[in-house]
Amino acid sequence: MPFLSDTLARVKPSPTIAVTTKAAQLKAEGKDVIGLGAGEPDFDTPQNIKDAAKRAIDAGRTKYTAVDGIPELKAAICAKFLRENGLTYTPAQVTVGTGGKQTLYNALMATCNPGDEVIIPAPYWVSYPDMVLLAGGTPVPVVAGIETNFKLTPAQLEAAITPKTKWFIFNSPSNPTGAGYTRAELRALCDVLLRHPHVWIMSDDMYEHLVFGDFEFCTPAEVEPKLYDRTLTCNGVSKSYAMTGWRIGYAAGPVALIKAMGTIQSQSTSNPCSVSQYAALEALTGPQDFLAENRRVFERRRDLVVSMLNAAKGVTCPTPEGAFYVYPDISECIGKVTSGGTVISNDEVFATALLEETGVAVVFGAAFGLSPNFRVSYATADETLREACGRIQAFCAALT
Ligand SMILES: Cc1ncc(COP(=O)(O)O)c(C=O)c1O
Repeated sequence: MPFLSDTLARVKPSPTIAVTTKAAQLKAEGKDVIGLGAGEPDFDTPQNIKDAAKRAIDAGRTKYTAVDGIPELKAAICAKFLRENGLTYTPAQVTVGTGGKQTLYNALMATCNPGDEVIIPAPYWVSYPDMVLLAGGTPVPVVAGIETNFKLTPAQLEAAITPKTKWFIFNSPSNPTGAGYTRAELRALCDVLLRHPHVWIMSDDMYEHLVFGDFEFCTPAEVEPKLYDRTLTCNGVSKSYAMTGWRIGYAAGPVALIKAMGTIQSQSTSNPCSVSQYAALEALTGPQDFLAENRRVFERRRDLVVSMLNAAKGVTCPTPEGAFYVYPDISECIGKVTSGGTVISNDEVFATALLEETGVAVVFGAAFGLSPNFRVSYATADETLREACGRIQAFCAALT
């Protein structure tokens, strides 16, 4: 009898975490490494949020809480949805988990049966397909390439839907491309979904606040209220409020689904960290000016990285609408040889050679379901980005 479960054989560890770990390892060995792999803001959590957490500790808010969130936080989440998204939810329609990751995982665990299909536009956040597999479902990746700015077309969505489709996972702005759907683009996808009432929508709005220029964020349940009853609107404080380590994510949707997600959570982790919930409460109810400031910084960095990468030989880098990632195409680099003598046969080889020969850590495109590309996270200081992009330019210029 094998010791490890069959479930484990279906999934792989997160490649983004693997790159971050490898870069940290090389750094610890004294190598000059610049990590552009991690998906987290480099800013510190705002002081008012940290203070709220300290107050919570001093007030003894250190015990178990209600499994899927304290009532104050659920009320704040309802207020946030109304204020920022025009969506009305009651606290019974809200669940709070240990990061956005847990809420998405709970939803899939609570709903996927063998044979159920989940449509995932590719390139995708690395965890979606593996979470679907863990839950016993079948991921159905649909490639939205550079020609549509990494956005799924209505025709592609229509073609991917079958009688077995349970969920359509929608993520705008996207990790790994930063692509954000305009209202018109999302409207067109909603029109397809209206024709298929058995399909549920999981909208992962994690990067809602990180949008640039005059781009306006929108979410399916708001764009098409007729989809409200079969949409799970997911969000969290990790990226917007620089709170990745606090582990608070949340979701809102129909009561029966929220209850089922709570059941999964009650038998796995129980409540998310009590202190972090009070911190998240302050994040959602305290001053919000931090968000606009962050946006400005990220927009400046996006422009820097896009222009420097487009100046690298053989690299094409579209300008994304949001998040803190770019996803350049490196088709023209494939088949070439690095100055260290490595033949670039695919994007994983490109990323490994880049790390070994220049010390710049990026994540290869195959991890996200679209090659040949790589993902740069530009959530790091401008000077570091300039240095890293300079090294990428030199690496590409040396390819023969
Ligand atoms: C698209 C997307 N959704 C969800 C998450 C998970 O966020 P959290 O850290 O709150 O679990 C991430 C984190 O990288 C993400 O990129």
